Amino acid sequence: MENAKETIFRIKDERGDSLAVLGHHYQSDAVIDCTDIRGDSLELARKINGLEAEHVVFCGVYFMAESAAILSRPGQKIHLPDVTATCPMADMAEAGRVRKTLAILEEGGRKIVPLTYVNSSAAVKGVVGEHGGSVCTSANAKVMLEWALSQGDAVLFLPDQHLGNNTADVLGIPADERLLLPGDVIHGDPALAVNPDEAEGKKLILWPGYCPIHAEFTLDAVRRIRENEPEAKIVVHPECDPAIVREADGNGSTTFLIKYAEEAPAGSTVYIGTEENLVNRLAARYAGCKTIKPLLGVMCEDMGKTTLENLARTLETLDSAAPVTVSNAVKEPAKLALERMLAVCS
Ligand code: 13P
Ligand code: SF4
Repeated sequence: MENAKETIFRIKDERGDSLAVLGHHYQSDAVIDCTDIRGDSLELARKINGLEAEHVVFCGVYFMAESAAILSRPGQKIHLPDVTATCPMADMAEAGRVRKTLAILEEGGRKIVPLTYVNSSAAVKGVVGEHGGSVCTSANAKVMLEWALSQGDAVLFLPDQHLGNNTADVLGIPADERLLLPGDVIHGDPALAVNPDEAEGKKLILWPGYCPIHAEFTLDAVRRIRENEPEAKIVVHPECDPAIVREADGNGSTTFLIKYAEEAPAGSTVYIGTEENLVNRLAARYAGCKTIKPLLGVMCEDMGKTTLENLARTLETLDSAAPVTVSNAVKEPAKLALERMLAVCS
């Protein structure tokens, strides 16, 4: 009897160019081995834009499949092997609360431009698109924040407070020109949580979301390595707390982290602060040449929901299973927001 991997490769062979399997770098090695295209969020969004395949299977989390559905061409079907694979950070910003917060912040007559991290729902991207804003990824956050700042009086950056603060550090936006919205805005009523007077004069207003995976990394872990292995380099993802990013030797998207490991000299040691699947893959790739270690072993449970078994099942049911869809009312403005990013970062 055929095993899951054999099923996947047989169907890929049979379907040829009418099927494309995409995977984010945080997927397991077994799944990554079955993908045609791998990348960080920006690279994957760019690739979808020009993809001809009728069926696109996205090995990642829900917001990624939604973005693919928004950017897909007519007739193209986007599939996600496990539709319960969400991003807990994306779930920290709900579209209705984002819309209400923007209205409260604009009560004084200032124009607030929303900039959402790609790790957000299609509905949030829709609100952002309607409001003249755009999307960013960890690879282009600096360029997109500069763009957003040029479009109005202040920017509402969401949902990741850390990526927002880290990018503001790069742009030299002083701390007293930033406002972190209270945690209550995530689950509560923005009318009770947001005080428009506090936002007056601030350039950057930050939604209080964060990635629970990257929140596991601590400054203590960084300092211990500095003490015990002063020669070792430390690089982290900008979803980490700014205190950690400031002490690291570098930070950037998953593609940046992969390139850093690749370019590290033979014999060197590099600690990487991001999801463990990616770090372990890099450690195995360079074993015997250089030492790549996780700053701490943390896996994204949702990214891990894609397995060979559910990928095989998805491929077996391509013509009958319901693809991931986004309603037209959301799709139009969300597409506008994503296309603004792709135009600014072309
Ligand atoms: P990038 O691959 O774009 O750096 O994003 C990391 C991430 O957390 C995706 O969920
Ligand atoms: Fe979301 Fe963090 Fe998982 Fe990325 S690693 S999908 S940001 S929870």
